[in-house]
This record gives sequence, C-alpha cells and structure tokens, in this order.
Amino acid sequence: MRALTWQGRRDVRVETVPDPVVQEPTDVIVRVTSSGICGSDLHLYEVLGPYLDPGDILGHEPMGVVEETGADVTAVGRGDRVVVPFNISCGDCFMCGQGLQSQCETTQVREYGSGAALFGYTKLYGQVPGGQAELLRVPFGNTLPVKVPHGPPDDRFVYLSDVLPTAWQAVEYAAVPPGGSLTVLGLGPIGDMAARIALHRGAGLVIGVDLVTDRLQRAAARGVHTLDLRIYGKDVGDAVRDLTGGRGTDAVIDAVGMEAHGATAAKAGQWAVGKLPDPAARALMERAGIDCLSALLTAVDAVRRGGTVSVSGVYGGAVDPLPLLKMFDKQLQLRMGQANVRNWVPSILPLLVDDDPLGVDGFATHHLPLEDAPKAYETFQKKADGMVKTLLRP
Ligand SMILES: NC(=O)c1ccc[n+]([C@@H]2O[C@H](COP(=O)([O-])OP(=O)(O)OC[C@H]3O[C@@H](n4cnc5c(N)ncnc54)[C@H](O)[C@@H]3O)[C@@H](O)[C@H]2O)c1
Ligand SMILES: [Zn+2]
Ligand SMILES: [Zn+2]
Repeated sequence: MRALTWQGRRDVRVETVPDPVVQEPTDVIVRVTSSGICGSDLHLYEVLGPYLDPGDILGHEPMGVVEETGADVTAVGRGDRVVVPFNISCGDCFMCGQGLQSQCETTQVREYGSGAALFGYTKLYGQVPGGQAELLRVPFGNTLPVKVPHGPPDDRFVYLSDVLPTAWQAVEYAAVPPGGSLTVLGLGPIGDMAARIALHRGAGLVIGVDLVTDRLQRAAARGVHTLDLRIYGKDVGDAVRDLTGGRGTDAVIDAVGMEAHGATAAKAGQWAVGKLPDPAARALMERAGIDCLSALLTAVDAVRRGGTVSVSGVYGGAVDPLPLLKMFDKQLQLRMGQANVRNWVPSILPLLVDDDPLGVDGFATHHLPLEDAPKAYETFQKKADGMVKTLLRP
C-alpha cells in the first residue's frame, strides 16, 4: 500500500510499504477514505524527531470502510463505515470505564511512562503505524471504531477521530459558566472548533487569538471576537481584561502547544534538538525545558482570578518553568491532556445531523490526494495558502 512515512526533520514521503494484516482476532483492517493532517503532526515534523524512526507511518485522524475483520469481531463487518479515534483504547479497563480512554491501562506505553498508545505517533506513544495510508490495522475492533452511517460526505464524520472530541474536551474542561466568557489561544483546527463549540453551548463571549490573518477572519465570521497577536503581542492579557470589565475571561483554552510563536530561548532549544543525534536530543528534551510556553503564560495572564485554564495544545518538555506564584495567587484551575475521544462521541454525534451547527461540512480548507501529503505538511507548517485543515484522500 501507499503510506506517508516520516524520514527526518521536515522530511515526510509517500512510499510503498507492506499492507497491514490481522494480527489479533479482534483486529479490523480499514480501507482509509479520508485522513486529516493535525497540528500534532507538525510537532512530529519539527520537534519530536528524536522519538521517531525513518519509515514510521504517520496519521491519526482516519476514517474509512472495514475491509477485513478478525475472527472475534462482531461489532463491525466488512463494508461498514467507521471513524477511528486517535487514541488506542481497549474499552474495558478501569481507565476506559472512567471515560479516560487516553489513559487506557491496556495500551499504556509503560516503557516510557506514557498514557494510551496513539496511532501514527512517537515511541512515547507506542510507535503504532498510522492512518495517512491506504490501509490501517485497528485493534479492539469491537469497541474502538465508531460506526457511522453511509451517505453524507466523509467531512461530516472524519473529525470525530480527533478535532471534535479534542475541542469538545477543551470546552468541557474550561467549564465556562452559562453566558460566561472564554479566550481561545490559537485558531488552528482545534482552537477554531473549540470556539464554535463554546458558542454553540452558550458562551456569552468567545475571544480568539492568533497571528494568521485568514484564521482570524474565519473565526470572526462565526462570531468570535478576534485579537491579532501581531498587534497585541505581550498585551493580550490586557486586551482580554479590557473586554471583560477588567477581570479576564472565565476560562482560557490553550490550543497552541509547544511550538508557540514568541519564545526565543525555547526555539533555540528546539533547534538544538533538531541537530543532535537522537539519544542526545532525547536527553536534552527530558532534562531541559524545550517548550515555547508563550501561549500557556498568556493563558495564565488572561484568565480571571478563580478561572480555569484548559490546555489542549501538546507540550513535551520535562522541566518547563511555570509561574506558580501567579497560578497559586490567582487560584487557577488547570485541566489538560490528550482527548478521551471515545468518551465524547455520544455527545457530539447528535450535532452531526442535517443542519450541521458546527459547520463541519465546510471545515476543511483542502482536500488532497495522499500523494500530495509532503507538500501539504510543508504548506500547513508555513500556514500558507489559507490552509487550516487538510483531508488526505488515499
Ligand atoms: N489534546 C489533544 O488531544 C490534542 C489533539 C489534537 C491536537 N492537539 C494539539 O493542539 C494544538 C493545536 O492543534 P491544531 O491542529 O489546531 O494546530 P495548528 O498548529 O494549526 O494551530 C496552532 C495555532 O496557534 C497559533 N499560534 C501560535 N503561537 C501562538 C500564540 N503565542 N498565541 C496565539 N496563537 C498562536 C498558530 O498561528 C496556529 O494557528 C497542537 O499543539 C496540537 O498538538 C492536542
Ligand atoms: Zn490530531
Ligand atoms: Zn482501556
């Protein structure tokens, strides 16, 4: 089959690789029809190389049609249309029972002390072949794939794999009171969708911050009060307070993560990581703070006292310095983590009906053949060509 493989920093290639096969009686093989490119893939492309090997198949936002099932699979059959959650969870351990599928105890990557394995990610998350490929092996076939109806275009359902549950969890964790206020830092796919969900669920004011013109415009068109980071810079917190009677918003979502614009020391660390051989780079990442913390620090600043900071953006440094004095004094609540995809699907599915209140049908800015994936990664990283969300068509 054809698959998008990681080869090195800013080097991904579509190659011919062996087809996946059923290995366990509960496996299913899915023929992928659409597969998203995520901001998390950009971290693999730029910073997380020390935890990848050349040839690793990327992609964790796939949907498609079941092609083959193991002997014990009863929940789905050949021809069923399914979305595959990005975290690999068993569905019946203690953590899955708590709705904490991102912590699944069956797939936790204990070697690295990590939570549940993920498709198409690093060694820290199991190095499981991903879904930017023609075919994908999916374990736990009776509980993991989400069956969706035939008929509507893939765009209607594909975001159940990641964008929708991640944004939903971000809003849920933000715990905005009815009619309350929220700042969303970063208006990539996750921030954009989180803003849409917050407005849909009754937030009174959603402020969105980014530094890319078309991302700001796209959010503004849906009722978000936008602030351009290029104008406000370090004064985003002041601008947010100006809009909220001097207090700050009830909650802030960080939908930016470790590669935030604006932290030169950490950028230098990320540059060094990219130049060192893997073991040395891993040691640096494990002992130094390599994250650009500017978005997280803005979140701590812009949230009102007693408010909540909800972090969806992925961070990777082991010893990042945080302003604990300010966090303690402001009495903040901090919630974060990989999305527990399976947990939020029942809440989201009713919104993927005919009137499409979240606008998923028009959410993708690009639909491209899998063969164009390397160019798409480059364009997405540069935030060029109006690219916000790309769906690859294998
Ligand atoms: N928690 C999860 O389960 C989960 C799932 C998916 C994605 N993510 C993470 O969420 C983050 C966003 O993902 P995405 O797909 O939307 O990616 P993205 O890279 O397209 O979006 C990030 C946005 O933040 C903006 N930005 C950069 N620095 C900023 C700053 N200082 N202040 C405000 N905005 C800034 C960028 O211009 C960009 O639009 C990534 O870190 C990704 O890894 C987490
Ligand atoms: Zn993703
Ligand atoms: Zn489990």
